[in-house]
Amino acid sequence: MQRILVVGAGAMGSQIAMVCALAGYDTTVTDVADEALDRATSQLHARLDRDVAKGRRTREDVDAAFARLTFSTDVDAAAAAADLVIEAALEKLEVKREVFARLDKISPAHTILTTNSSAIMSSQLANATGRADRVANMHFFNPALVMRCVEVLGTDEATVEAVADLARRLGKEPVVLRREIPGFVANRILGAVRDEAIFLLENGIATVEDIDTACRTALGYPMGPFELMDLTGIEIGYHAKLARHAVTGDPRDLPSRTVTELVERGDLGRKTGKGFYTYDESGDRT
Ligand SMILES: NC(=O)c1ccc[n+]([C@@H]2O[C@H](COP(=O)([O-])OP(=O)(O)OC[C@H]3O[C@@H](n4cnc5c(N)ncnc54)[C@H](O)[C@@H]3O)[C@@H](O)[C@H]2O)c1
Repeated sequence: MQRILVVGAGAMGSQIAMVCALAGYDTTVTDVADEALDRATSQLHARLDRDVAKGRRTREDVDAAFARLTFSTDVDAAAAAADLVIEAALEKLEVKREVFARLDKISPAHTILTTNSSAIMSSQLANATGRADRVANMHFFNPALVMRCVEVLGTDEATVEAVADLARRLGKEPVVLRREIPGFVANRILGAVRDEAIFLLENGIATVEDIDTACRTALGYPMGPFELMDLTGIEIGYHAKLARHAVTGDPRDLPSRTVTELVERGDLGRKTGKGFYTYDESGDRT
């Protein structure tokens, strides 16, 4: 495996592409929007310059990685040369199915097509292609340059092993799902912790502050579930739950009353100045 194509240069795709380039792969990252490629270029340079300044990476390694990394809007040319594709485009099934159908037409027969989706399972994309056995999930975590877990999921053992092996070569720790399940592993566990935190809150057992304190001081979490929801945006989990409910029909997958009320009020966390906590203009908790 030599050449990697990353489709989508947003928050995830840009960093995934950088991870691949840093690990020595010839990498192309494509997007439909020129602005996204410009933003990705400047954000990656700023981030990697910071890493060099802090002594986390050498200037030589970073320069060599950028020399291996191409930013492009021409997905067809990149797909024709790719050994593996990581799709990190918009989280919409129709968009991803279109992307996979096109990649399938253009990529060489041996090319493995993966998606970084957090919710869409590779089985929902495999039948948009003529190579169902070479389609898999390769799910990175945000920020991809830092987080070491990569969840891998697919129907063909050799494909899953090839993707897990690539994850190791990228310096990540693959976690292989033996069977598909909405939400995969890490986000299901995170969701279960959140659900329990909200259960304790809604039943008047403890305050938001005390539940977060317990998670930090008893369980060693870097931040409590309410702090984390405020940081990532309360609507993200809300929409993820609605999407999962649409697949499972299980009422336990519906968003909680508390989260629904916050989303309906527009109190989405740090970015709106109010969520489970309130924040001042400079983003500090009040
Ligand atoms: N943000 C996260 O925390 C996170 C974590 C893990 C996985 N993911 C998954 O990664 C994927 C991307 O998420 P993101 O947060 O980077 O989104 P984003 O909105 O930051 O980036 C998506 C990019 O895809 C581009 N795009 C849209 N349609 C395209 C197409 N047809 N071809 C090529 N590019 C296209 C957009 O212009 C945009 O630049 C999603 O599937 C999401 O589930 C996100």
